[in-house]
Amino acid sequence: MNPNTTHAIEVLKADSSKISSVDFENLVFGNIFTDHMLSCDFRNGAWEKPIIKPYEPMLLDPSAKVFHYGQAIFEGMKAYKDDNDEVWLFRPEQNLERFNKSAVRLAMPEVPDDLFLEGMKQLIDLERDWVKKGKGNTLYIRPFMIAIGTGVVAAPSTQYRFMIILSPAKSYYSGEVKVIIAEHFSRAANGGIGAAKAAGNYSAQFYPTKLANEKGFQQIIWTDDATHTKLEEAGTMNVFFRINDTLYTAPTSERILDGVTRKSLIQLARSLDIKVEERSVLVTELVDAQKDGSLKEVFGAGTAAVVNPIVGFSYADMYYELPKLENSFAAMLKEKLTDIQYKIDSDPFGWTVKV
Ligand code: COI
Repeated sequence: MNPNTTHAIEVLKADSSKISSVDFENLVFGNIFTDHMLSCDFRNGAWEKPIIKPYEPMLLDPSAKVFHYGQAIFEGMKAYKDDNDEVWLFRPEQNLERFNKSAVRLAMPEVPDDLFLEGMKQLIDLERDWVKKGKGNTLYIRPFMIAIGTGVVAAPSTQYRFMIILSPAKSYYSGEVKVIIAEHFSRAANGGIGAAKAAGNYSAQFYPTKLANEKGFQQIIWTDDATHTKLEEAGTMNVFFRINDTLYTAPTSERILDGVTRKSLIQLARSLDIKVEERSVLVTELVDAQKDGSLKEVFGAGTAAVVNPIVGFSYADMYYELPKLENSFAAMLKEKLTDIQYKIDSDPFGWTVKV
């Protein structure tokens, strides 16, 4: 954890709100942003005064390092409204910890705890009306940091901007999710930045994912870069495999994002006496399990995606369908997790934090 910032946050309110023009029932993920944003610059070795101000475009020098070397990291979080109009965050300290790990890996300054946590709460408090009640309605929170220092020398910037923007959101995927298992392209390698939530980890997936989309698949399940035999994670979520009644998910490593939803589901499943093993699942094991009927479910887990069933996968030009289940672990875990997030059920793990 990082020392607290000494600066109070300046607040500059927007003259008007655009909330009345938003169709909250038909949101496309990540397209609409609330009236305000938080911004704080790092210069001369220190964080300056943070400001919450109207959401607006910003002016950056064309030589800012973020444009040339992709020195950029982010987080994905959500706020939820309960029936009493209280707004809640889910395990925000986990995102703070991961954000600062990403910062260190990308040679960026760590963000002070209270700038991240209190700044976020203050911003969300101002935008309470944008958090709608009812399961499925959320306010997606996107903290990020970019290198704003100028010059095209390939070296870390000395100036950075930390920002938080907010977007009302429903589901990430609007339809069924089918995946291709990676045989050639890789998301990450040992010693690389795979475990960091770095912008470049996502843009590196765009081309292979575009090829997958053209074939009718929404995502790729990445395999280990060295042998392409072990299943790792999908582009927007960690992945769980249910073989018979055991859940398997790849262990975190230098190549895999340590997902907050992933770790919460593991804890939740174990508390419900579901056996969970964090170990590598081989592609051949998955194919064999699909063929002999022991593969019951595959699902993704992430903040944006929540718990998303995968209906089938393609490997070596063959398509394998997943069965439709009555007693789906994915459905049950999603229900339990979201009951905690929306304060419908008690929170025995102490995961929820009031705004
Ligand atoms: C999230 O789940 O919050 C993420 O950051 C994934 C992103 C691709 C939407």
